[in-house]
Amino acid sequence: MHQLLHREEEGPEGRHHPLRRRLKKRKGAEKPSSVAGIEVGFSTYSLEELTTATDGFSDANLLGQGGFGYVHKGVLSNGKVVAIKHLKAGSGQGEREFRAEIEIISRVHHRYLVSLVGYCITGAQRMLVYEFVPNGTLEFHLHGKDKPTMDWSTRMKIAVGAAKGLAYLHEDCRPKIIHRDIKAANILLDDSFEPKVADFGLAKHLFDTDTHVSTRVMGTLGYMAPEYASAGKLTDRSDVFSFGVVLLELITGHRPVDKTLFLDGSIVDWARPLMKRALEDENYNAFVSSKLQNYDSFEMKRMICCAAACVRHSARLRPSMSQRRIARELRRMPETLIRAHDNRKHVLYVHVSIPCSGFKRSIGSEYIV
Ligand SMILES: Nc1ncnc2c1ncn2[C@@H]1O[C@H](COP(=O)(O)OP(=O)(O)O)[C@@H](O)[C@H]1O
Ligand SMILES: [Mg+2]
Repeated sequence: MHQLLHREEEGPEGRHHPLRRRLKKRKGAEKPSSVAGIEVGFSTYSLEELTTATDGFSDANLLGQGGFGYVHKGVLSNGKVVAIKHLKAGSGQGEREFRAEIEIISRVHHRYLVSLVGYCITGAQRMLVYEFVPNGTLEFHLHGKDKPTMDWSTRMKIAVGAAKGLAYLHEDCRPKIIHRDIKAANILLDDSFEPKVADFGLAKHLFDTDTHVSTRVMGTLGYMAPEYASAGKLTDRSDVFSFGVVLLELITGHRPVDKTLFLDGSIVDWARPLMKRALEDENYNAFVSSKLQNYDSFEMKRMICCAAACVRHSARLRPSMSQRRIARELRRMPETLIRAHDNRKHVLYVHVSIPCSGFKRSIGSEYIV
């Protein structure tokens, strides 16, 4: 079972993923190659090519502006639709390091991660070329004005997919990639609401120094783990915290920072006692988004347990993404819980200390046969 799951989680290149091999030095520009119809290559693009692709970086093609700079939609000469991110100047990183880092990111391919297909360096200008994801961000669908309510199964699908993408970055990439800016705006959606996590690895490549402790904290207010915000301490568990905040958004429909709703402005402190009560009473209605009419109570309980564990104040007590792969938690619970129970005592502690009455009992009586 574990083997099967592991293979399912691997990218299209499976265990022969190029990240497992040594990074080879490249000479000059390369064009994507195609193996059985899957594009596996990575390109450098000239400014002219990207200018043509975006109709001169026209306003009509502007998708948005985020922390990293402007993003334009473009169509390459081979017909591929892309999103081109024009990075803000001032990273201070040399061209060689930038190229090496970006090439590492370009080798990461996974169903739930946005692929980088190339880049452009012209003088001080740097652009990244990504596969285009057509249906906007999770933030847009959750909080956009007059958007139809996403139903529970869609929310579940997004949580599960994003968890798998993040787990892949943490567990299966060498070197391991810490995202640093997990948030609803960095979860893109395709037409069937399959999620794709965007911008992984970027924060490091743009803003960090060589040290393990960031001198310059970057992330998004409301999503940042406390130890990262206060001391710049960054581990995979800081991503887990941010992921927990996304789960809270999916459950409650609230933005992570909302001064009118939360006393201290943050969703996490507001949610902690409510989650505890909801789990104790097995009544989720006071906590769950009022727009969500129908949901599966069992899945809701699991999702709340996951969120509560992910946003624990102490990074040490947060689960890793592999223990917390929501897919396994929700859909293949027996295996996960038995493993979590056996291998990591603190994970069990996380669960029972939420506290979540009946949870321990349910492991014993209902799910371990
Ligand atoms: N690969 C992509 N496909 C489609 N749209 C994208 C892609 N990458 C970014 N965008 C859009 O561009 C906008 C700005 O992106 P970004 O700089 O990542 O902003 P943020 O800091 O909000 O994550 C986002 O709102 C997103 O909708
Ligand atoms: Mg982004």
